[in-house]
Amino acid sequence: MKTVPLGDVPLDKFFSEYWQKKPLLVRNALPDIKPPIAADELAGLACEEAVESRLVIQDAESDRWDLTHGPFTDETFRALPDKYWTLLVQAVDHWVPEAAEFLTPFHFIPSWRIDDLMISYSVDGGGVGPHYDNYDVFLVQACGRRQWEVGGTFDSNSPRRSDTPVMILSDWKPEQRWILEPGDLLYVPPRVGHSGIAVGDDCMTCSVGFRAPSHSEILRGFADYIGDTLNDEVRYEDSDLVALKNPGSLTPESLGKVHHIVKQYLEDKDLLAEWFGRFITAPKYPEEASEPEAYRLDDLRAHIANGGMLKRNEGTRMVFQERDRVRWLFVDGRRYECPADQKALVQALCTDLTINPGQYQQTEEHLQLLLDLLNRGSLYFPAE
Ligand code: SIN
Ligand code: CO
Repeated sequence: MKTVPLGDVPLDKFFSEYWQKKPLLVRNALPDIKPPIAADELAGLACEEAVESRLVIQDAESDRWDLTHGPFTDETFRALPDKYWTLLVQAVDHWVPEAAEFLTPFHFIPSWRIDDLMISYSVDGGGVGPHYDNYDVFLVQACGRRQWEVGGTFDSNSPRRSDTPVMILSDWKPEQRWILEPGDLLYVPPRVGHSGIAVGDDCMTCSVGFRAPSHSEILRGFADYIGDTLNDEVRYEDSDLVALKNPGSLTPESLGKVHHIVKQYLEDKDLLAEWFGRFITAPKYPEEASEPEAYRLDDLRAHIANGGMLKRNEGTRMVFQERDRVRWLFVDGRRYECPADQKALVQALCTDLTINPGQYQQTEEHLQLLLDLLNRGSLYFPAE
């Protein structure tokens, strides 16, 4: 296992005592940290249509909080005050290869649980106020200093300020407080209250955010998936119907049949496994899907003759499942059935951002898989 950014906290201890339980501060978790993006490039990303971004500006005197969503313009940034603002850009890992690299030390958590790298940039006093998130987060100080306070657990019933679109808990008392320096990391579990305030200018915080599908998403997603696979002619049947004393009633027998229909799909673990693999790898921004390529095997062979390195598309999601004699590889919502001799390749695809020729064989089957991934934009040829 590669080194994990938890300082001297053993992995077992992290999972048993902290993960989804309580906050953990790790000093110097990433000693050689370099901001994965420069501040002006982050601002540039926030000016792009496809990128999700927010600006939170606080008026410290009146305690008024303003929220605006991107895309922004150069003028937005020129007009900002000297203090009390934060720019937040979502999913920077999808757009910037260095930001995708930044996530690799966090793959000690199952990679399908990782959602994205959000990056915030603040001037002195900037922050988003006391709030909670519904997901786990590793807050990593990339440059500058930020004071973090944590405390209490909250939910959608917790009182929050009604005079601002920024989610600010109104009854919040911090229990712990630290000032994070570059390379320090703070883990915050879901629903734990937290607030970060920049101490001085040029404060960049990287938030490694996780995803945990809601029960509602799981149930709706699975039900829709089953529904789409079924023919309309598969219907409720009651060839065992008998004469009823009261045909106006909905009988336990009829309800039992409906229950049986629902249960038969819910108990199909293969169906569930297939749906979940597709669901969890579905692209975060489907509208950004690239146009299909038309590479042929000869193009791939020529590339191999030149070194054969392949890069994983930063927006691509991959996960594999061990099945009976094969592996199911899920890529951007698609499923590939991969035979035993593709074990190392499948594992590499699901963990590494760069695939080197030592990780695949030059057999027809290996190359066809890579070719399909290239043509669908899940892999790309790196620039020379
Ligand atoms: C921030 O980076 O300022 C906000 C991150 C968070 O609280 O989740
Ligand atoms: Co937060």
